Amino acid sequence: MDLFEYQARDLFEKHGVPVLGGVVATTPEEAREGAVKLTGDDGGVVVVKAQVKVGGRGKAGGVKLAKSPDEAAERASEILGMDIKGHTVHRVMIAQGAQIEEEYYFSVLLDRANRSLLAMASKEGGMEIEQLAVERPDALARVEVNALTGIDAAKAAEIVAAAGFEADVADKIADVIQKLWTVYREEDATLVEVNPLVKTASGDIVALDGKVSLDENAAFRHPDHEALEDKAAADPLEAKAKENDLNYVKLDGEVGIIGNGAGLVMSTLDVVAYAGESHGGVKPANFLDIGGGASAEVMAAGLDVILNDAQVKSVFVNVFGGITACDAVANGIVKALQILGDEANKPLVVRLDGNNVEEGRRILAEAAHPLVTLASTMDEGADKAAELAAK
Ligand SMILES: Nc1ncnc2c1ncn2[C@@H]1O[C@H](COP(=O)(O)OP(=O)(O)OP(=O)(O)O)[C@@H](O)[C@H]1O
Ligand SMILES: [Mg+2]
Repeated sequence: MDLFEYQARDLFEKHGVPVLGGVVATTPEEAREGAVKLTGDDGGVVVVKAQVKVGGRGKAGGVKLAKSPDEAAERASEILGMDIKGHTVHRVMIAQGAQIEEEYYFSVLLDRANRSLLAMASKEGGMEIEQLAVERPDALARVEVNALTGIDAAKAAEIVAAAGFEADVADKIADVIQKLWTVYREEDATLVEVNPLVKTASGDIVALDGKVSLDENAAFRHPDHEALEDKAAADPLEAKAKENDLNYVKLDGEVGIIGNGAGLVMSTLDVVAYAGESHGGVKPANFLDIGGGASAEVMAAGLDVILNDAQVKSVFVNVFGGITACDAVANGIVKALQILGDEANKPLVVRLDGNNVEEGRRILAEAAHPLVTLASTMDEGADKAAELAAK
Protein backbone atom coordinates (compact mmCIF):
# COMPACT_ATOMS: atom_id res chain seq x y z
CA MET A 1 0.00 0.00 0.00
CA ASP A 2 1.39 3.37 -1.07
CA LEU A 3 0.95 6.24 1.33
CA PHE A 4 0.27 9.90 0.71
CA GLU A 5 3.10 12.29 1.49
CA TYR A 6 1.34 13.62 4.60
CA GLN A 7 0.97 10.09 5.95
CA ALA A 8 4.66 9.41 5.29
CA ARG A 9 5.47 12.67 7.08
CA ASP A 10 3.52 11.52 10.13
CA LEU A 11 5.34 8.16 10.19
CA PHE A 12 8.67 9.94 9.85
CA GLU A 13 7.80 12.18 12.78
CA LYS A 14 6.75 9.18 14.87
CA HIS A 15 10.21 7.64 14.41
CA GLY A 16 12.18 10.80 15.02
CA VAL A 17 13.04 11.67 11.41
CA PRO A 18 13.34 15.47 11.21
CA VAL A 19 10.38 16.90 9.27
CA LEU A 20 8.67 20.26 9.09
CA GLY A 21 5.17 21.02 10.26
CA GLY A 22 2.43 19.89 7.89
CA VAL A 23 -1.36 20.16 7.92
CA VAL A 24 -3.79 18.50 5.53
CA ALA A 25 -6.54 20.58 3.92
CA THR A 26 -9.40 19.69 1.60
CA THR A 27 -10.68 23.23 1.05
CA PRO A 28 -9.02 26.64 0.56
CA GLU A 29 -10.44 27.75 3.92
CA GLU A 30 -8.80 24.81 5.68
CA ALA A 31 -5.59 25.67 3.84
CA ARG A 32 -5.74 29.19 5.24
CA GLU A 33 -6.33 27.85 8.75
CA GLY A 34 -3.50 25.39 8.29
CA ALA A 35 -1.12 28.19 7.27
CA VAL A 36 -2.14 30.25 10.30
CA LYS A 37 -1.59 27.24 12.55
CA LEU A 38 1.90 26.69 11.12
CA THR A 39 3.14 30.26 10.92
CA GLY A 40 0.92 32.40 13.13
CA ASP A 41 -1.08 35.37 11.86
CA ASP A 42 2.02 37.34 10.94
CA GLY A 43 2.61 35.15 7.92
CA GLY A 44 5.76 33.31 6.98
CA VAL A 45 6.29 31.09 4.01
CA VAL A 46 4.39 27.86 3.56
CA VAL A 47 4.31 25.42 0.67
CA VAL A 48 1.01 24.09 -0.65
CA LYS A 49 1.49 20.54 -1.92
CA ALA A 50 -0.88 18.35 -3.91
CA GLN A 51 -1.44 15.00 -2.17
CA VAL A 52 -1.59 12.43 -4.95
CA LYS A 53 0.11 9.06 -5.15
CA VAL A 54 2.17 9.85 -8.21
CA GLY A 55 5.59 11.38 -8.76
CA GLY A 56 6.40 14.67 -10.43
CA ARG A 57 3.91 16.81 -8.55
CA GLY A 58 6.26 19.79 -8.49
CA LYS A 59 6.79 19.80 -12.24
CA ALA A 60 3.05 19.48 -12.84
CA GLY A 61 2.38 22.64 -10.81
CA GLY A 62 1.19 20.78 -7.74
CA VAL A 63 3.74 22.28 -5.32
CA LYS A 64 3.50 26.04 -4.74
CA LEU A 65 4.94 28.60 -2.37
CA ALA A 66 2.63 30.94 -0.42
CA LYS A 67 3.79 33.95 1.59
CA SER A 68 0.64 34.42 3.66
CA PRO A 69 -2.42 32.46 4.79
CA ASP A 70 -4.49 34.24 2.13
CA GLU A 71 -2.02 33.21 -0.53
CA ALA A 72 -2.08 29.65 0.84
CA ALA A 73 -5.85 29.60 0.36
CA GLU A 74 -5.44 30.91 -3.20
CA ARG A 75 -2.78 28.37 -4.12
CA ALA A 76 -4.91 25.62 -2.55
CA SER A 77 -7.91 26.61 -4.65
CA GLU A 78 -5.71 26.33 -7.76
CA ILE A 79 -4.25 22.96 -6.81
CA LEU A 80 -7.38 21.26 -5.41
CA GLY A 81 -9.24 19.55 -8.22
CA MET A 82 -6.18 19.61 -10.47
CA ASP A 83 -5.42 16.50 -12.50
CA ILE A 84 -1.87 15.21 -12.11
CA LYS A 85 -1.14 12.31 -14.45
CA GLY A 86 -4.69 11.02 -14.12
CA HIS A 87 -4.90 11.56 -10.35
CA THR A 88 -7.37 14.16 -9.12
CA VAL A 89 -6.14 16.25 -6.21
CA HIS A 90 -8.61 15.94 -3.30
CA ARG A 91 -6.25 17.15 -0.57
CA VAL A 92 -3.29 19.40 -0.19
CA MET A 93 -0.71 19.53 2.53
CA ILE A 94 0.28 22.92 3.88
CA ALA A 95 3.93 22.53 4.84
CA GLN A 96 6.22 24.88 6.65
CA GLY A 97 8.55 26.54 4.15
CA ALA A 98 12.18 25.48 4.36
CA GLN A 99 15.19 27.58 3.44
CA ILE A 100 16.90 25.08 1.24
CA GLU A 101 20.64 25.11 0.76
CA GLU A 102 21.13 21.65 -0.78
CA GLU A 103 18.76 18.93 -2.04
CA TYR A 104 19.81 15.31 -1.55
CA TYR A 105 18.21 11.94 -2.22
CA PHE A 106 17.84 8.85 -0.07
CA SER A 107 15.82 5.67 -0.34
CA VAL A 108 15.77 2.15 1.01
CA LEU A 109 13.71 -0.49 -0.70
CA LEU A 110 13.09 -4.16 -1.23
CA ASP A 111 15.31 -5.28 -4.11
CA ARG A 112 13.44 -8.35 -5.31
CA ALA A 113 15.81 -9.13 -8.17
CA ASN A 114 18.73 -9.45 -5.75
CA ARG A 115 16.71 -10.95 -2.89
CA SER A 116 18.01 -8.21 -0.68
CA LEU A 117 17.41 -4.67 0.45
CA LEU A 118 18.98 -1.72 -1.30
CA ALA A 119 19.80 1.77 -0.11
CA MET A 120 20.33 4.54 -2.62
CA ALA A 121 21.69 8.00 -1.91
CA SER A 122 22.79 11.01 -3.89
CA LYS A 123 24.09 14.51 -3.30
CA GLU A 124 21.99 15.57 -6.26
CA GLY A 125 18.43 15.15 -5.12
CA GLY A 126 15.41 17.14 -6.14
CA MET A 127 12.94 16.53 -8.87
CA GLU A 128 14.69 14.38 -11.46
CA ILE A 129 16.15 11.38 -9.70
CA GLU A 130 14.96 8.89 -12.34
CA GLN A 131 16.72 10.92 -15.01
CA LEU A 132 19.87 11.13 -12.90
CA ALA A 133 19.85 7.36 -12.45
CA VAL A 134 19.77 6.85 -16.22
CA GLU A 135 22.08 9.64 -17.36
CA ARG A 136 24.69 9.67 -14.59
CA PRO A 137 24.37 6.45 -12.63
CA ASP A 138 27.66 7.21 -10.84
CA ALA A 139 26.00 10.11 -9.04
CA LEU A 140 23.57 7.71 -7.38
CA ALA A 141 25.23 5.46 -4.81
CA ARG A 142 23.74 1.99 -4.41
CA VAL A 143 24.54 0.03 -1.28
CA GLU A 144 23.16 -3.40 -0.50
CA VAL A 145 21.56 -3.69 2.93
CA ASN A 146 21.29 -6.97 4.76
CA ALA A 147 17.73 -7.44 5.98
CA LEU A 148 18.87 -8.94 9.27
CA THR A 149 21.44 -6.35 10.25
CA GLY A 150 19.78 -3.39 8.57
CA ILE A 151 21.27 0.09 8.60
CA ASP A 152 23.33 0.47 11.75
CA ALA A 153 25.90 3.22 12.34
CA ALA A 154 28.52 1.43 10.24
CA LYS A 155 26.14 0.83 7.32
CA ALA A 156 24.94 4.43 7.46
CA ALA A 157 28.55 5.60 7.33
CA GLU A 158 29.15 3.35 4.33
CA ILE A 159 26.15 4.81 2.50
CA VAL A 160 27.18 8.37 3.31
CA ALA A 161 30.73 7.69 2.07
CA ALA A 162 29.48 6.00 -1.11
CA ALA A 163 27.33 9.04 -1.94
CA GLY A 164 30.19 11.40 -1.12
CA PHE A 165 28.33 13.75 1.24
CA GLU A 166 30.47 16.65 2.53
CA ALA A 167 32.07 16.27 5.94
CA ASP A 168 29.95 19.01 7.55
CA VAL A 169 26.69 17.09 6.93
CA ALA A 170 27.94 13.49 6.91
CA ASP A 171 27.19 12.71 10.57
CA LYS A 172 23.78 14.34 10.52
CA ILE A 173 22.80 12.50 7.35
CA ALA A 174 24.04 9.19 8.77
CA ASP A 175 21.82 9.80 11.79
CA VAL A 176 18.74 10.59 9.66
CA ILE A 177 19.39 7.55 7.47
CA GLN A 178 19.34 5.30 10.55
CA LYS A 179 16.03 6.82 11.62
CA LEU A 180 14.61 6.26 8.15
CA TRP A 181 15.72 2.66 8.47
CA THR A 182 13.74 2.46 11.71
CA VAL A 183 10.68 3.58 9.75
CA TYR A 184 11.37 0.91 7.12
CA ARG A 185 11.80 -1.89 9.64
CA GLU A 186 9.28 -1.04 12.33
CA GLU A 187 6.49 -0.15 9.94
CA ASP A 188 7.20 -3.15 7.66
CA ALA A 189 7.71 -0.98 4.59
CA THR A 190 8.91 -2.07 1.16
CA LEU A 191 9.97 1.46 0.23
CA VAL A 192 11.01 4.55 2.12
CA GLU A 193 12.12 7.35 -0.18
CA VAL A 194 13.02 10.94 0.62
CA ASN A 195 13.43 13.30 -2.31
CA PRO A 196 14.49 15.86 -1.40
CA LEU A 197 16.30 15.35 1.83
CA VAL A 198 17.57 18.88 2.36
CA LYS A 199 20.23 20.84 4.15
CA THR A 200 18.63 24.02 5.39
CA ALA A 201 20.24 27.45 5.80
CA SER A 202 20.75 26.67 9.48
CA GLY A 203 22.62 23.47 8.56
CA ASP A 204 19.91 21.02 9.60
CA ILE A 205 19.00 17.92 7.62
CA VAL A 206 15.24 17.66 7.02
CA ALA A 207 13.02 15.27 5.04
CA LEU A 208 10.94 17.57 2.83
CA ASP A 209 9.10 14.90 0.87
CA GLY A 210 8.33 11.27 1.67
CA LYS A 211 7.19 8.24 -0.24
CA VAL A 212 6.42 5.14 1.77
CA SER A 213 4.99 1.80 0.64
CA LEU A 214 3.86 -0.58 3.34
CA ASP A 215 3.90 -4.35 3.01
CA GLU A 216 0.27 -5.45 3.22
CA ASN A 217 1.37 -8.99 4.10
CA ALA A 218 2.48 -7.57 7.44
CA ALA A 219 -0.81 -5.76 8.07
CA PHE A 220 -1.69 -8.20 10.87
CA ARG A 221 1.18 -6.74 12.87
CA HIS A 222 -0.02 -3.17 12.36
CA PRO A 223 -3.66 -2.59 13.25
CA ASP A 224 -2.98 1.15 12.94
CA HIS A 225 -2.14 0.82 9.24
CA GLU A 226 -5.72 0.18 8.25
CA ALA A 227 -6.54 3.81 8.95
CA LEU A 228 -3.99 4.79 6.29
CA GLU A 229 -5.93 3.10 3.51
CA ASP A 230 -7.51 5.39 0.96
CA LYS A 231 -10.89 3.67 1.01
CA ALA A 232 -12.47 6.22 -1.35
CA ALA A 233 -9.98 5.38 -4.09
CA ALA A 234 -10.22 1.59 -3.82
CA ASP A 235 -12.10 -0.29 -6.49
CA PRO A 236 -15.46 -1.13 -4.84
CA LEU A 237 -15.30 -4.77 -5.97
CA GLU A 238 -11.74 -5.16 -4.69
CA ALA A 239 -12.77 -3.55 -1.41
CA LYS A 240 -15.66 -5.97 -1.05
CA ALA A 241 -13.39 -8.91 -1.84
CA LYS A 242 -10.90 -7.71 0.74
CA GLU A 243 -13.61 -7.53 3.41
CA ASN A 244 -14.24 -11.21 2.71
CA ASP A 245 -10.52 -12.09 2.70
CA LEU A 246 -10.66 -13.07 -0.96
CA ASN A 247 -7.65 -12.93 -3.21
CA TYR A 248 -9.25 -10.87 -5.99
CA VAL A 249 -7.92 -8.59 -8.69
CA LYS A 250 -10.28 -6.82 -11.07
CA LEU A 251 -9.35 -7.07 -14.75
CA ASP A 252 -10.88 -5.61 -17.84
CA GLY A 253 -12.83 -8.48 -19.40
CA GLU A 254 -16.19 -10.25 -19.52
CA VAL A 255 -15.54 -13.77 -18.21
CA GLY A 256 -15.54 -13.97 -14.41
CA ILE A 257 -13.00 -16.48 -13.08
CA ILE A 258 -13.01 -18.53 -9.88
CA GLY A 259 -10.36 -21.12 -9.20
CA ASN A 260 -8.42 -22.64 -6.34
CA GLY A 261 -4.71 -22.04 -6.12
CA ALA A 262 -2.93 -19.06 -7.67
CA GLY A 263 -1.20 -21.18 -10.32
CA LEU A 264 -4.42 -22.76 -11.56
CA VAL A 265 -6.16 -19.37 -11.64
CA MET A 266 -3.30 -17.81 -13.59
CA SER A 267 -3.41 -20.54 -16.21
CA THR A 268 -7.20 -20.29 -16.32
CA LEU A 269 -6.80 -16.61 -17.24
CA ASP A 270 -4.47 -17.61 -20.08
CA VAL A 271 -6.75 -20.34 -21.37
CA VAL A 272 -9.82 -18.09 -21.25
CA ALA A 273 -7.99 -15.25 -23.00
CA TYR A 274 -6.93 -17.70 -25.71
CA ALA A 275 -10.43 -19.17 -26.07
CA GLY A 276 -11.85 -15.64 -26.15
CA GLU A 277 -9.97 -14.93 -29.37
CA SER A 278 -12.38 -17.16 -31.28
CA HIS A 279 -15.38 -15.49 -29.59
CA GLY A 280 -14.99 -11.84 -30.53
CA GLY A 281 -12.04 -11.18 -28.23
CA VAL A 282 -13.71 -11.63 -24.83
CA LYS A 283 -11.26 -11.64 -21.94
CA PRO A 284 -11.07 -12.72 -18.30
CA ALA A 285 -12.77 -10.24 -15.95
CA ASN A 286 -10.76 -10.95 -12.83
CA PHE A 287 -8.34 -13.06 -10.87
CA LEU A 288 -9.97 -14.84 -7.94
CA ASP A 289 -8.31 -17.57 -5.94
CA ILE A 290 -10.65 -19.05 -3.35
CA GLY A 291 -7.80 -21.07 -1.87
CA GLY A 292 -7.77 -24.56 -0.45
CA GLY A 293 -10.89 -24.86 1.69
CA ALA A 294 -13.57 -23.88 -0.79
CA SER A 295 -16.54 -23.80 1.56
CA ALA A 296 -20.02 -22.78 0.42
CA GLU A 297 -19.58 -19.43 2.18
CA VAL A 298 -16.30 -18.67 0.40
CA MET A 299 -17.78 -19.76 -2.93
CA ALA A 300 -20.83 -17.57 -2.31
CA ALA A 301 -18.69 -14.59 -1.34
CA GLY A 302 -16.56 -15.06 -4.47
CA LEU A 303 -19.54 -15.44 -6.77
CA ASP A 304 -21.17 -12.45 -5.13
CA VAL A 305 -18.17 -10.23 -5.93
CA ILE A 306 -17.92 -11.47 -9.52
CA LEU A 307 -21.64 -11.25 -10.29
CA ASN A 308 -21.64 -7.67 -9.06
CA ASP A 309 -19.11 -6.78 -11.73
CA ALA A 310 -21.32 -5.16 -14.38
CA GLN A 311 -18.83 -6.12 -17.10
CA VAL A 312 -19.13 -9.83 -16.35
CA LYS A 313 -21.28 -11.82 -18.79
CA SER A 314 -20.40 -15.37 -17.77
CA VAL A 315 -18.43 -17.10 -15.04
CA PHE A 316 -15.95 -19.95 -15.29
CA VAL A 317 -15.44 -21.93 -12.09
CA ASN A 318 -12.31 -24.05 -12.47
CA VAL A 319 -11.54 -26.12 -9.41
CA PHE A 320 -9.09 -28.92 -8.83
CA GLY A 321 -10.14 -31.01 -5.86
CA GLY A 322 -7.33 -31.78 -3.47
CA ILE A 323 -7.69 -31.81 0.29
CA THR A 324 -11.05 -30.18 -0.30
CA ALA A 325 -12.60 -32.82 -2.53
CA CYS A 326 -14.77 -32.10 -5.58
CA ASP A 327 -17.98 -33.20 -3.84
CA ALA A 328 -17.42 -30.56 -1.14
CA VAL A 329 -16.79 -27.95 -3.85
CA ALA A 330 -19.90 -29.05 -5.76
CA ASN A 331 -21.98 -28.78 -2.61
CA GLY A 332 -20.40 -25.39 -2.06
CA ILE A 333 -21.49 -24.23 -5.51
CA VAL A 334 -25.04 -25.52 -5.05
CA LYS A 335 -25.35 -23.88 -1.64
CA ALA A 336 -23.76 -20.68 -2.88
CA LEU A 337 -26.39 -20.45 -5.62
CA GLN A 338 -29.09 -20.96 -2.99
CA ILE A 339 -27.58 -18.25 -0.79
CA LEU A 340 -27.39 -15.83 -3.70
CA GLY A 341 -30.88 -16.62 -5.01
CA ASP A 342 -31.94 -14.07 -7.63
CA GLU A 343 -28.59 -12.34 -7.43
CA ALA A 344 -27.11 -15.25 -9.34
CA ASN A 345 -28.15 -14.17 -12.80
CA LYS A 346 -25.30 -15.02 -15.16
CA PRO A 347 -24.37 -18.37 -16.71
CA LEU A 348 -21.80 -20.46 -14.86
CA VAL A 349 -19.52 -22.98 -16.47
CA VAL A 350 -18.06 -25.41 -13.94
CA ARG A 351 -15.11 -27.68 -14.49
CA LEU A 352 -14.18 -29.98 -11.65
CA ASP A 353 -11.32 -32.42 -11.56
CA GLY A 354 -9.23 -34.26 -9.01
CA ASN A 355 -10.21 -35.86 -5.74
CA ASN A 356 -13.73 -37.34 -5.81
CA VAL A 357 -14.57 -35.79 -9.17
CA GLU A 358 -17.32 -38.30 -10.08
CA GLU A 359 -19.30 -37.51 -6.96
CA GLY A 360 -18.81 -33.78 -7.51
CA ARG A 361 -20.15 -33.94 -11.04
CA ARG A 362 -23.06 -36.11 -9.90
CA ILE A 363 -24.05 -33.53 -7.28
CA LEU A 364 -24.03 -30.72 -9.83
CA ALA A 365 -25.89 -32.79 -12.44
CA GLU A 366 -28.53 -33.72 -9.90
CA ALA A 367 -28.99 -30.13 -8.74
CA ALA A 368 -29.52 -29.22 -12.42
CA HIS A 369 -29.36 -25.49 -11.78
CA PRO A 370 -30.53 -23.72 -14.96
CA LEU A 371 -27.51 -21.38 -14.95
CA VAL A 372 -24.89 -24.10 -14.56
CA THR A 373 -23.16 -25.90 -17.42
CA LEU A 374 -20.69 -28.67 -16.68
CA ALA A 375 -17.47 -28.97 -18.61
CA SER A 376 -15.16 -31.94 -18.44
CA THR A 377 -11.90 -30.22 -19.36
CA MET A 378 -10.35 -26.82 -18.75
CA ASP A 379 -10.21 -26.01 -22.49
CA GLU A 380 -13.83 -27.00 -23.01
CA GLY A 381 -14.92 -24.94 -20.00
CA ALA A 382 -12.95 -21.89 -21.13
CA ASP A 383 -14.41 -22.13 -24.62
CA LYS A 384 -17.97 -22.51 -23.32
CA ALA A 385 -17.60 -19.60 -20.89
CA ALA A 386 -16.12 -17.38 -23.63
CA GLU A 387 -18.93 -18.34 -25.99
CA LEU A 388 -21.58 -17.48 -23.37
CA ALA A 389 -19.86 -14.15 -22.62
CA ALA A 390 -19.84 -13.26 -26.31
CA LYS A 391 -23.59 -13.84 -26.73
N1 LIG B 1 8.41 22.52 2.71
C1 LIG B 1 9.09 23.00 1.66
N2 LIG B 1 9.73 24.16 1.74
C2 LIG B 1 10.42 24.64 0.68
N3 LIG B 1 10.50 24.03 -0.50
C3 LIG B 1 9.88 22.88 -0.66
C4 LIG B 1 9.13 22.28 0.41
N4 LIG B 1 8.61 21.12 -0.04
C5 LIG B 1 9.03 21.00 -1.31
N5 LIG B 1 9.78 22.04 -1.70
C6 LIG B 1 10.42 22.22 -3.00
O1 LIG B 1 9.59 21.70 -4.02
C7 LIG B 1 10.24 20.66 -4.73
C8 LIG B 1 9.26 19.57 -5.07
O2 LIG B 1 8.67 19.09 -3.88
P1 LIG B 1 8.42 17.54 -3.65
O3 LIG B 1 9.70 16.81 -3.74
O4 LIG B 1 7.69 17.40 -2.42
O5 LIG B 1 7.51 17.20 -4.86
P2 LIG B 1 7.90 16.37 -6.18
O6 LIG B 1 9.24 15.79 -6.07
O7 LIG B 1 7.65 17.17 -7.36
O8 LIG B 1 6.90 15.33 -6.08
P3 LIG B 1 7.24 13.83 -6.18
O9 LIG B 1 8.26 13.54 -5.13
O10 LIG B 1 5.92 13.24 -5.93
O11 LIG B 1 7.78 13.62 -7.56
C9 LIG B 1 11.33 20.18 -3.81
O12 LIG B 1 12.41 19.63 -4.53
C10 LIG B 1 11.72 21.45 -3.07
O13 LIG B 1 12.63 22.20 -3.85
MG1 LIG C 1 9.89 14.71 -4.33
